[in-house]
Amino acid sequence: MFGALDSLPSLPLAPYPTPVEELSGLHAALGGPRLLVKRDDAIAFGAGGNKVRKLRLVAADARRHGADTLITCGGVQSNHARATAATAAKLGFRCVLIANGNKPERPTGNALLARLFGAEVRYVATRADRAPAMDAAAAELRRAGRVPYVIPLGASTPLGACGFVQAIAELGQQIEPPDVIIHATSSGGTQAGLVAGCALAEWPTRVVGISADEPSAAMQRDIREILTGLGPLLGFPPGRFADAAIEVDDRFVGGGYGIPTPESEEALEMAARRDAVILDPTYTAKAMAALIAAIRRREVPDRETVLFWHTGGQTGLFA
Ligand SMILES: Cc1ncc(COP(=O)(O)O)c(C=O)c1O
Repeated sequence: MFGALDSLPSLPLAPYPTPVEELSGLHAALGGPRLLVKRDDAIAFGAGGNKVRKLRLVAADARRHGADTLITCGGVQSNHARATAATAAKLGFRCVLIANGNKPERPTGNALLARLFGAEVRYVATRADRAPAMDAAAAELRRAGRVPYVIPLGASTPLGACGFVQAIAELGQQIEPPDVIIHATSSGGTQAGLVAGCALAEWPTRVVGISADEPSAAMQRDIREILTGLGPLLGFPPGRFADAAIEVDDRFVGGGYGIPTPESEEALEMAARRDAVILDPTYTAKAMAALIAAIRRREVPDRETVLFWHTGGQTGLFA
């Protein structure tokens, strides 16, 4: 069903499956459809989250290439950078992180953890400076006789996205296909993998990504591109997912990346108080705000099941 998925080298990093639980408190408060949560926030590795699923495959590829250093990038509080630093620590790579933003006087949240995991952090001024800085770091390491492996933003490569095809295979062992999966989307790898996984499993499930920053059209383009590369990795033609719907909702970004909105603040508080689920201000609280709004607007029939894919990031609360 999933093509060559099982033959892709993959390092477990953590035990799976992650739990699927009822959001019974939110359901009691909101009514409407059945609400489930897939707890990737509870991945028992390096503070968890969606990036661990991608890094299982990407780190295995780095090892296959004989790499000794992982290089990646993100904001100062990047969950992906922190998860990469953890992966490097566990698997014996060195790690260089290119962070856009100012060097914090006293690191907190993900920045604190990345340092604790032993990563070297280099700061650049803007997002646009990140990719050239990664290339420069790789060239510098090569000159020094090292073997760097550059992981693009969010590990949102076709290979990284296969981690979420694995995740759909995992979910299929736990529950019947939900009617809707709703999750935070940003660099697109999570959504590409979920869309591909649902298509290959022949699920009727709608996958709805709630943008943390980019406009819908740009996100859809990025996700389509990842899907084009993903097909051949699993032994399918590049156009295998050309007809798959890519739904991205950018109405919950508000003032921008990482800036809370009244709706995201309400969602953060409701999830904590009703179900003791901890969200983060940048990604998951905005995705939960979208779920709450959809239920209040009665956009999802009561007979349906909505699964909130918790992509982690709780460390962002302590930034
Ligand atoms: C907590 C969290 N949720 C969701 C996302 C979005 O995932 P993706 O980059 O695969 O779109 C990210 C990272 O960008 C994240 O850190």
